Amino acid sequence: MKESKKVALITGITGQDGSYLSELLLEKDYTVHGIVRRTSNLLRSRIEHLRRDEEIYGRRLFLHYGDLSDSTTLRRILGDVCPTELYHLAGQSHVGLSFEIPESTCEETGMATLRLLEIVRAHPSPVKFYHASSAEIFGDASASPQTENTPLRPTSPYGCAKAFATQLARVYRQSYGLFVCNGILYNHESPRRGENFVTRKIARGAARIARDRDYDLVLGNLESRRDWGRAQDYVQAMWLMLQHETADDYVVATGETHSVREFVEAAFAVVDLPWEKYVKHDPSFDRPTEPVRLVGCAEKIRKTLGWGPAGSFAQLVREMVEAELAAIDSHE
Ligand code: NAP
Ligand code: GDD
Repeated sequence: MKESKKVALITGITGQDGSYLSELLLEKDYTVHGIVRRTSNLLRSRIEHLRRDEEIYGRRLFLHYGDLSDSTTLRRILGDVCPTELYHLAGQSHVGLSFEIPESTCEETGMATLRLLEIVRAHPSPVKFYHASSAEIFGDASASPQTENTPLRPTSPYGCAKAFATQLARVYRQSYGLFVCNGILYNHESPRRGENFVTRKIARGAARIARDRDYDLVLGNLESRRDWGRAQDYVQAMWLMLQHETADDYVVATGETHSVREFVEAAFAVVDLPWEKYVKHDPSFDRPTEPVRLVGCAEKIRKTLGWGPAGSFAQLVREMVEAELAAIDSHE
């Protein structure tokens, strides 16, 4: 088999974004290496279809054990794989949970990014580095919509750690000339979203209630608003950033916000049920602080890289609810 010259290394390959990015890069003829951590369960559901594909796994897709806290292993993997592109996606990604486990969140999100930047700096050949930054760096945003120049004012431990890592990525680009891009991504969702993020929780809840598996859906703040896009479009943006001749930072967003309540209404409309009858509020899901006015201006990536989001909010909700219904029905 012909060896592909494009070699990507992905941290967080088992996550929502890592799985879609792997599919995209394999389609583009990359050899893809992913870092996975040791867990007690070998099933890695989001990439299991790729692992089972004998044409892919062990030929163009390889997995390596490693943890973000383990710099010797990360350095060895980078040395062995010699990637041309590194997509750093791994970390504790739940904002609400970051209030409960702030130290490990900051360690994984902040210090691990520094660790990887240092390893890339010492690597003998150039590596293009994508850092998974987040809208959470803007937190109590001083302007709306936010751009790449909006000041960083995070409101959660997760946001603080992403802000630290984002600034470091900028420093490494400016000080050492490394090709490092911050993708400042707003919320992006899919049927592969983790079950404790609000969109997946709602889609799953609506489908389970429709199929008589659950009687209610318990949520936190229904008035929170987010700029929600499709994960499949957002991994395309990551790839585009590393194909450009110069490294830079880009906001990736739809420019539109919806409330959690609107997501609930749209999801229950798909299954034709009155949401007010089933949705309950539990203050334990409320957060100590919430970012405000989070909505992104994606003009820069639109103009420079030709990126744009596809599909509407209603289509995203429908896609997620229908995937949940199909999953339930396939197990009956
Ligand atoms: P996700 O589904 O939660 O995936 C996180 C990935 O990181 C998983 O593969 C996880 O492995 C891995 N990981 C966590 N801690 C690790 C550690 N100590 N060592 C090695 N691997 C570790 O997150 P996502 O939605 O794909 O997001 C990808 C990245 O983008 C994250 O950094 C997130 O903070 C950021 N981001 C996401 C969004 C969004 O809306 N999705 C928006 C902005 C930024 P396991 O499978 O073993 O848990
Ligand atoms: N998770 C969750 N669970 N959130 C709830 C619930 C609930 O039961 N009820 C209401 N919410 C509200 C949260 O308070 C928040 O305002 C909103 O729904 C979205 O919460 P999440 O889906 O957990 O996402 P997030 O916005 O906090 O964080 C996601 O987006 C960031 C980018 O803006 C994550 O993907 C982060 O990793 C990412 O950086």
